[in-house]
Amino acid sequence: MQTVKTLHMLRTALAQLRAAPGTRIALVPTMGALHEGHLTLVRRARAEADHVVVSIFVNPKQFGPNEDLDAYPRQLAADAAMLEGEGVGLLWAPDAAAMYPAGFATNISVSGVSDGLCGAARPGHFDGVATVVCKLFNQVQPDMAFFGEKDFQQLAVIRTMARDLDLAAPHADRIIGVPTVRETDGLAMSSRNRYLSPEHRAAAAALPRAMQAASAALAAGAGVDETLAQLQAALLAAGFSSVDYAVLADAASLAPLDTLTDAPARLLVAARIGGTRLIDNMAVPH
Ligand code: PAF
Repeated sequence: MQTVKTLHMLRTALAQLRAAPGTRIALVPTMGALHEGHLTLVRRARAEADHVVVSIFVNPKQFGPNEDLDAYPRQLAADAAMLEGEGVGLLWAPDAAAMYPAGFATNISVSGVSDGLCGAARPGHFDGVATVVCKLFNQVQPDMAFFGEKDFQQLAVIRTMARDLDLAAPHADRIIGVPTVRETDGLAMSSRNRYLSPEHRAAAAALPRAMQAASAALAAGAGVDETLAQLQAALLAAGFSSVDYAVLADAASLAPLDTLTDAPARLLVAARIGGTRLIDNMAVPH
């Protein structure tokens, strides 16, 4: 596997990969601290493309002033070894100066789908995500890109950005969402799970459990308000300190729903435990 840290080296390496006509290149954007969830994206990408490019960049623009940018885990050598083991050909690992050279002045803001849920609690977060992902797409110009459904709102923001800006590489319909990978107790895998103490880690499994129960109740016809109130109460009883949101939303627009309809619906939750903010989402069958 080749690791490249400058745009010039990236473009040279990509030109070599594209030398064979018809070569399909997949991009898996990450912030590193890789776990099984990322490796699942890589395996999906390998199954569909001839070459997989993984990017590792802890993007300062998507962290708020009081968030965990400095503490965010960085382990490039260990991540590179994992990717090599998965057969990745190219690792794009720019530093902040390569991604945002002096004078960088552009911001991409996707209104509507960015505004509620995590966007309400983390102002500017999705602008930072949209801006860096647009840059990554332009840098690599992949035929397809893979993202985890764990960050469901992020996926919606990126698809909207690609559609609205007429991006061609990848085309919006080649932005592929991959189902969330879970620990054996159901907790969604996340680089932030490592912040949890053993006690909080055990209690955190209440999140997917309560969401499964809520999803089943909604599918069986229970009222939305009452079900979401029960879900919040279950989390607080299990040791979560607060619930940022617990929402039933239209799966495409993320607009809140007060009743289940024939359109695909998603249950989305963000809640805090021991100072760590966990998010999760699940489809609600109807
Ligand atoms: O999901 C992430 O790891 C990041 O938000 C992403 C998409 C790599 C952009 O920095």
